[in-house]
Amino acid sequence: MKRFLFNLMYLHHAPWDSGISPPELFEFIETHPPGHAIDLGCGTGTNVITLAQHGWQVSGVDFAARAIKTAHRKAKHANIDADLHVSDVTRLHGMTGPYDLALDMGCFHNLEYKKEDYLHRLDQILAPGGFWLLYAHMLSSEFGDQKHGLSAAEFEIASARFTLISRTDSLDKIGRDAVWALFQKSE
Ligand SMILES: C[S@@+](CC[C@H](N)C(=O)[O-])C[C@H]1O[C@@H](n2cnc3c(N)ncnc32)[C@H](O)[C@@H]1O
Repeated sequence: MKRFLFNLMYLHHAPWDSGISPPELFEFIETHPPGHAIDLGCGTGTNVITLAQHGWQVSGVDFAARAIKTAHRKAKHANIDADLHVSDVTRLHGMTGPYDLALDMGCFHNLEYKKEDYLHRLDQILAPGGFWLLYAHMLSSEFGDQKHGLSAAEFEIASARFTLISRTDSLDKIGRDAVWALFQKSE
């Protein structure tokens, strides 16, 4: 159902699909040497392309076939050899890594009861010392939907599995609590 809804959103211009990579990603790129990266829930591939343009070898995964189709087109236009997959981020069929960076902008917080499966797969595919750069909305009673977002308890579970390197809290465009967090898998 969710996959269907996301595909539907990609029929027109999805509201999050700005085509611009965020400063938090550029800051990461500037402070870490290039390696292997995976963009989990990569959408139309904007950040896959940015990472590849900065010397990273990048895979992108999204379960919305429409988004991946657009990502292929954008990558070709940018002259980038992108490794793009239609797959569920909680399964990541055929993807073993190891990745030095897993980027997630706006996917993990959507996963409801599948977050643990995601964390399990993430742990498997990240290289020792690899990073997980996450942007997520926090759950908020003010915004009604108690399934769509990351709870404080889920953030703690993630922090128990990976070392929290930095966390920046902010508000998104519509005033929801949001967080940028950088985690690292132990060596
Ligand atoms: C808010 S969008 C963000 C897309 C992209 N990261 C960006 O910043 O433009 C969330 C993305 O996660 C994808 N997604 C959600 N649940 C997923 C899942 N279980 N497996 C794979 N992709 C998923 C959606 O199709 C969508 O493209």
